[in-house]
Amino acid sequence: MQPLRIAIVGAGTVGSVLGRILVENGHRVTAVVSRSLSSARRCGRLLSCRTVSTNLEVIPQGTQVIMITTPHGAVRDVARALARLSSFSWRGVAVCHASGMLTAEALAPLSNAGATVFSFHPIQTFPREFPPRKIVPLARGIVYGVDGRPAGIRKARMLARALDGTTLLVPPEMREFYHAACVVASNHLTTLLGILAAFHREIAPGRRDFLKTFTPILRATLENVRATSPAKALTGPVARGGTETIARHFEALKQFAPALIPYYARMTLETVRLAMEKRTLTSGQVQDLMELSLSYLEQPFRTEESH
Ligand SMILES: NC(=O)c1ccc[n+]([C@@H]2O[C@H](COP(=O)([O-])OP(=O)(O)OC[C@H]3O[C@@H](n4cnc5c(N)ncnc54)[C@H](OP(=O)(O)O)[C@@H]3O)[C@@H](O)[C@H]2O)c1
Repeated sequence: MQPLRIAIVGAGTVGSVLGRILVENGHRVTAVVSRSLSSARRCGRLLSCRTVSTNLEVIPQGTQVIMITTPHGAVRDVARALARLSSFSWRGVAVCHASGMLTAEALAPLSNAGATVFSFHPIQTFPREFPPRKIVPLARGIVYGVDGRPAGIRKARMLARALDGTTLLVPPEMREFYHAACVVASNHLTTLLGILAAFHREIAPGRRDFLKTFTPILRATLENVRATSPAKALTGPVARGGTETIARHFEALKQFAPALIPYYARMTLETVRLAMEKRTLTSGQVQDLMELSLSYLEQPFRTEESH
């Protein structure tokens, strides 16, 4: 594809990482604008871009795509400020933002000014504690949640290709639902790993290598789901209708980690639902497992208890 000319507004982690992939893929960053000059300079160095500023007016005409990678609370303000740029012609310019929660509608002032707009949310986690260069390999080839009018979607697909990625069209009315799914994929998985660490601390106090213990089973589970489906990949006591085993798990949790009981009960119920899809349970087993889990779920949840 022809090299693109792209400006970045918001020189944080996402802007730096996506900008870096674009540069490595032969595209050119025409300007980096941020709230602080120090961030803009740091990002500019990473992206081989000398035009760095706190002022949107430095974005040169000829820029084809402007990526707004500020926090989502600033996106509407930036869009309004860009639309007010008096000397800038918006014909043929595409503008997107990276927020998971906002649709293309957040860029309405720019669309009214003549720009093509779209949302462009990278379905990846970009921890601020990591240097952008470390995140780059994990952000190649990802999927972007997008919405916009047909011309905007075409630009979104082009930008995703420039980043070695693909797009997922998200109906605007499902934006929050879509974002909740991304939270499950990353944040809830992280919480689940935190829970595993808590189990490991009880079993082997003083040993911090919980991932060494659990990585093989985690990796195989992910691979089995990838190769088949969540229902087909499900193994273990719930899938076998092992109410007795689950009851003993609850007793053990009471003794060693009572704060985890509501989690274990809720997830057992969800696992029963998956096992029903797998069709390995009798209706009696379903009922026993559900009654057992519900009896523990109804117990009061005390937030002050740590794992
Ligand atoms: N982090 C993730 O895992 C992740 C994943 C997917 C999508 N996103 C989305 O990507 C966007 C950026 O996230 P991030 O993690 O990169 O945030 P970040 O590291 O906090 O970076 C945001 C950058 O925007 C700059 N900024 C703030 N207000 C501005 C304004 N009014 N004008 C210009 N620049 C401004 C900040 O300024 P200074 O540094 O210059 O002060 C900062 O460098 C957000 O919409 C977020 O929801 C994040």
